Amino acid sequence: MTESLQQIVDRARAEFAAVSEGPALEDAKARYLGKGGALTELLKGLTALPPEEKKSRGAEINRAKETVEEALRARRAELAEAALAARLAAEAIDVTLPGRGRGTGGIHPVIRTWQRVEEIFGSIGFDVADGPEIEADWFNFTALNNPPNHPARSMQDTFYVDMKGTDGLPLLLRTHTSPMQVRYAREHARALVEEGKPIKVIAPGRTYRVDSDATHSPMFHQVEGLWIDEAISFADLKGVYTDFLRRFFETDALTVRFRPSYFPFTEPSAEIDMMFDSGPLKGRWLEISGSGQVHPAVVRNFGLDPERYIGFAFGSGLERLTMLRYGIGDLRLFFEGDLRFLRQFA
Ligand code: DAH
Repeated sequence: MTESLQQIVDRARAEFAAVSEGPALEDAKARYLGKGGALTELLKGLTALPPEEKKSRGAEINRAKETVEEALRARRAELAEAALAARLAAEAIDVTLPGRGRGTGGIHPVIRTWQRVEEIFGSIGFDVADGPEIEADWFNFTALNNPPNHPARSMQDTFYVDMKGTDGLPLLLRTHTSPMQVRYAREHARALVEEGKPIKVIAPGRTYRVDSDATHSPMFHQVEGLWIDEAISFADLKGVYTDFLRRFFETDALTVRFRPSYFPFTEPSAEIDMMFDSGPLKGRWLEISGSGQVHPAVVRNFGLDPERYIGFAFGSGLERLTMLRYGIGDLRLFFEGDLRFLRQFA
């Protein structure tokens, strides 16, 4: 039994209604209107009919074809609309929600101290220098009057690099910023001798030791200071450093004391202690920096005549200054990256 035109149209409608996606709809279309489609086949069959029948049958088939085409267009429009509605729902933005904001970074408290130190010393004419953290033994120890096998070396055990420096000794992670004294002074010795330009520099930076507890970290920061000229005395050190502390802590209510000590690269040497006259740390002596008058042997290693040139040096811990400024009790907080701690300084 052959299917009637109406049955074909109904079947096409039903198939169009059943598909839910564009490509499936186009497949369904091909089954009726495509090259081998049901209605196309019927049109092809017209040639076999006698002329009078051909006309009326042809008109019937064409009406059926139009109906199917109409149904196809309607279904296409429905599917497109549904797809758009689904996409809008999926990408819906609730404009009434509060914004998430952006996480803003902050400057680490130790770096804040670093910047502050540069600012204060810069304002009184100190240059700022920078140098290698992987250092030659000669700069880190020997040039600073700390020859191989000298017992003072054991005060500063460090990490060695599996590579030799030009002095034939293994390179190491610098144990202090003091090698920067030697590097900077050797570079500027000529300007001092020939033009009378004083060597006046600070060198802040990272330093390393084999040390780790609540008050020591294998990596920490120091700032080195050096002032060499023809008549720079211990009195200048006292004045400069006391002034620095007052500006750093933003108070004149502090007392500074120079306590005799030992460093191979200074003679005399002093530990700088300070005491706040008020506040939570009031009345306690706090060790803040090593310092001293640069040893003649070191001045000679600068490439200068120690009979003519003299001056002072100091080396202060930036973590120490930061802890005292903000009242921080444990050094490890600086290196843990805990945002609850760091946010307080942002
Ligand atoms: N380099 C010393 C240290 O790390 C600190 C120091 C002491 C630096 C005295 C100096 C100085 O320049 O004169 O322990």
